[in-house]
Order: sequence, then C-alpha cells, then structure tokens
Amino acid sequence: METKIYDIREGVEGYEGQIAEAMDAASSVIKSGGVVAFPTETVYGLGADALNPNGVASIFEAKGRPSDNPLIVHIASLKDLEGLCESIPENARKLADVFWPGPLTMVLFKSKEVPYITTGGLSTVAVRMPRHSAALQLIRQSGRPIAAPSANISGKPSPTKAEHVINDLYGKIPVILDGGDCTVGIESTVIDMTGDIPFILRPGFVTAEDISQVLGFDVEIKVHNDTGSPKSPGIKYRHYSPKAEIIIFDGKREEVEAEIAKRKSEEEALGRSVGVILFGETDYEEAAHNFFARLREMDDLNVDIILTGAVNDSHGKGIAIMDRMFKSAGIEKSKHLGNDTSLE
Ligand code: TXA
Ligand code: MG
Repeated sequence: METKIYDIREGVEGYEGQIAEAMDAASSVIKSGGVVAFPTETVYGLGADALNPNGVASIFEAKGRPSDNPLIVHIASLKDLEGLCESIPENARKLADVFWPGPLTMVLFKSKEVPYITTGGLSTVAVRMPRHSAALQLIRQSGRPIAAPSANISGKPSPTKAEHVINDLYGKIPVILDGGDCTVGIESTVIDMTGDIPFILRPGFVTAEDISQVLGFDVEIKVHNDTGSPKSPGIKYRHYSPKAEIIIFDGKREEVEAEIAKRKSEEEALGRSVGVILFGETDYEEAAHNFFARLREMDDLNVDIILTGAVNDSHGKGIAIMDRMFKSAGIEKSKHLGNDTSLE
C-alpha cells in the first residue's frame, strides 16, 4: 500500500496549506473506513471510525494487536460523549470539566452504537478528548469518533515521533500525519468510572492526587482485581519491548551511577554492547518525553543490554514513568532487591 506522509508541524513553511490538504486526505480515509496515524499530546494514535467495524478491524490488523485488547475512542466535544455511553456519571462530568481536552481516558458503560470489536468484546468503552489541535481537527472534520491505540506494532515502544510510526507502519496504512514530537510522551491515564468508586487502571500524567482533588475523595491505582487478574485487558500483553534486555537500578543517585558504570564495564568485557538511559531522578517531564524514543534508539544501535536508573516514584508522575520502565523490562514492579531490580 502507498503511504502518504503529511508534514503538519506547526510553524513549518506553508503550514496553512499543508494542514488543509492533510486534513482533507485524512478525514476522507476515516470516513471511508480506513486508518490514519495522527499526533496527540501523549503518543501517536492509529485511528479509524470507532463506529465502523471494518475500519476498526483494519487497526487491529495493521498493529498486529490481539482482538481482546480494547481501543480508546477519541472525541472532540462533550456532546460526542453522549452517543458513546449509556449515561455520564456525575464524577465523569467533573473529571471531563477539569482534564479534557487532555491525557485522561475514562472507562464508561458503552451505548449500543459502539461495536464490540472497538471494546474488545467488553460492555464498557474507553473515551478520551485529546488536547492536540490536529487530533481535534481530524475528529471534527471526519465527523466521527475515532478509535485509536498507540500507532506502534503491538509490543514495541509507543511512538512519540512521526519517524517511529514510519518505521513501524510505512506501507501498511495510507496516511501518516507528522506533527513532530509528542509533548507528554507517555500514554493517557486510564480510569474506570463504571463502579461507585473510580480506579486508575493505567497511571499517567494526570495523577491519582490530581483526580482525588477534583472528586473530593481518594482514588487509587488498581491494576489487578481481587483474584489477581488484570482489570484492563491490555495489561497482560507484552509492552514497550526493545530488542535488548533492560536492567533498572534503583537507589541513591551516586550509587546508581556507580553501579551502572561498573556493570557497563563488566558487560563490555564479556563482549556485549551496552546502552545507558539515565534521567534526572525527579525530571519527570524529560523522562516521559524521551523514554520511548531512547528505547527505539537503543534498538537502532543494536545494543545487547540497556542499563537505566529508576526515577523517584513518590510522585504520581514518577509512578507513571516507572510503570513504563517496568513493563519495558518485562517485570511487573520493583522487587526491591537492593540496587538491581531486574529478575535475573
Ligand atoms: O494516550 C493514549 O491513551 C494513546 C493516544 C493515542 O490517545 N492511546 C493509547 O491506546 O495508549 P492503547 O490502545 O495503546 O492503550 C489503551 C489502553 C489499553 O491498556 C486497554 O486495555 C485500555 O486502555 N482499555 C481500553 N478500553 C478499555 C475498557 N473498556 N476497559 C478497560 N481498559 C480499557
Ligand atoms: Mg499501546
């Protein structure tokens, strides 16, 4: 398939003309049941008409995504939400008022209009209003809610630059909108609003504390239910996996740096090539913005092993970043084994 890439980065020469042409092309693809990769403030999305089962099927096919892993439906106004869910709980309205448009996804009981292929067979639907102007424009011009997972091949790190999408999906989809770097860099917070008490299913940059403040009671992160199985179907699948093995070092910063340097020379003495990813301990914006891109760079460099340092997870944004680090390393959470949190 021929893939057309449109440069819609703000400020590039001829922006006005390019965005108009890009939106015409992308919205006609969506309206005719096809898929389009587009930027959001979190990561790039791979979108199709959420109410068109054929369009949604093409998303699963292009990504190689398991069919029981549900998609997030993207909307451009609160009015769009009414047609997607049975009813809008009061708490959902409060969160929408404060955090939309933005990186928060709410799980609600779905309406009949939403096909089961979009929700991975569930009776609930995940909905988010993105903050990126191109994403909002695409939804409006298509006149459809847009179902979109992250625009990566299933299992790979989420795409935060158009080149990541091009590497994964060129030749498989008709249109890629290049909006430059995603500002946030990790995916939205997912919160289950279907029960009396909301639960966070995936931590993100809208933190449990932010949400608790708006709702007036404590909201927790609850990734697993009481029987230990994941509450969100996506959690059980491999995520963000680079080719190399990842080891996360946790502890005092000087010790982490020293451990990493020591391990690096040991590994290199064994003939293994080593990559190091180290962010400031509390530099959450930078870590989120760059983590997935750094993982992909390490793949391009063909390193055998990646050594990285934990960020401080006593802050909600730190929890969101550590969630991605642990998943990329293929471990559930820190085992608190001293300095080295890999499962070797
Ligand atoms: O920031 C984001 O959320 C990005 C951009 C493109 O908007 N999208 C994204 O989609 O990260 P995806 O498909 O990679 O992740 C969606 C997550 C999965 O973990 C999935 O299991 C969960 O949301 N999810 C979707 N619908 C759900 C539902 N009805 N109940 C529980 N979890 C759901
Ligand atoms: Mg994803």
